[in-house]
Amino acid sequence: MFGTKEHLRAQEGHLLIDGVDVVDLAGEFGTPLYVTSEKRLRENVRLYREAFPESWIYFAVKANGNLALLRILAEEGMGADVFSAGELSLVRMAGMPMEKVLFNGNSKRIEELKMAVEAGVRISADSRDELLALSEVASEMGQEAEVAFRVNPDVSATTHPKIATGLKTSKFGIPWREIVEVYRTAMSLEGVRPIGLHCHIGSQILETSPFEEAAARMMELAGEIVGMGGEIEMMDFGGGLGIAYSPETQAPTPADLAAGILPVFKDGCQKLGISPRMILEPGRSIVADTTLFLTRVNVVKRAHVNFVGVDAGFNLLARPMLYDAYHHAVVANKADHKPEEKYTIVGPICESGDVLAKDRTLPKVERGDIVAMLDAGAYGFSMASVYNGQPRCPEVLVGGGRAELIRRGEDRSVFLAGQIVPPRLLK
Ligand code: LLP
Repeated sequence: MFGTKEHLRAQEGHLLIDGVDVVDLAGEFGTPLYVTSEKRLRENVRLYREAFPESWIYFAVKANGNLALLRILAEEGMGADVFSAGELSLVRMAGMPMEKVLFNGNSKRIEELKMAVEAGVRISADSRDELLALSEVASEMGQEAEVAFRVNPDVSATTHPKIATGLKTSKFGIPWREIVEVYRTAMSLEGVRPIGLHCHIGSQILETSPFEEAAARMMELAGEIVGMGGEIEMMDFGGGLGIAYSPETQAPTPADLAAGILPVFKDGCQKLGISPRMILEPGRSIVADTTLFLTRVNVVKRAHVNFVGVDAGFNLLARPMLYDAYHHAVVANKADHKPEEKYTIVGPICESGDVLAKDRTLPKVERGDIVAMLDAGAYGFSMASVYNGQPRCPEVLVGGGRAELIRRGEDRSVFLAGQIVPPRLLK
């Protein structure tokens, strides 16, 4: 019923995650609620480890910044791609080894460069200007920063335009034709030691050929760098592997990705006589399918379509609104009932775009039902906001047959936090 999602099943009408009834969870912890399977999370990492036994796998923290989940990923041997000082603090707290962290970002603050140097993590420079800033910062600190270069490979991958990052028109990276020159500059600068190349061509990519194309370009550049006397210790091919959000789509596995890019990498290294560490930075394919997002039906309204109004919308799951993304919807307390009618599931936010799912054929929906949105673990909670006076919801981890709270829900105090009303306005 749930395809390859072995952690999900229906029993006596209810949806279960690793054997735990999600309708009970909604009762115990309230809704909305994010619920993650620990087992599935660990299995997803293992798929990468099996496919890429010699590589270091970094988790893209932007996909999910929950500390308990990061802790599990650290236990599984993952490092991290961080994109800000905030994300660096998180992975430090999660106990990830600093030697397995890459500090990314196309517009880093000077304080962030300092923090990265101080922490001793590697930095991916996104421009020549940033390289110069880093050289100044590290020299002043009497340190030498290990720096990789974000390559813009000019590779086109089919995905939503807002999450394609490898096109020459994208804001990310150094145009590939300029990489060798920037590398040469870095070799002569104080305070930095160039150690390799990095790229990331986009997200939710469902074919492996663009990854192969990008890898080939990266190996070509590595060859030119070695040719001019540079050293290559790491090659980071980014994240981007898509998942099957809808039952009709198929997604490549980490093993498929390995079959595509490992030969390009290995042959390239052999030809050049180098042996850099291969790095990958998956986010979505590690965490998306581990997590359900549970909402409760407030109201069913029969209008020109059948609207199901639930207790959370794009404030807590922004992907449908932002990218017209599909998330499969299941009525969790009628999980094995026959689909009967078409519904459009909408949130409580005061915008017409606040639609979680459109035209879905579901069992008859009534007030009080629990709707589970599937595959919500990546870019779900991490992109949540408190827009429209909606506090963020709790998160729960299911492992070993029990459920534990891993983030408390916010209450209305979140709207007061940090606010200052000048006394002159309090008359
Ligand atoms: N590395 C870098 C440098 C990245 O920018 C990203 C994602 C990743 C790795 C991880 O990519 P993944 O394996 O998750 O595809 N909010 C959007 C996705 C934005 C992706 C941003 N960069 C969404 O919900 O689809």
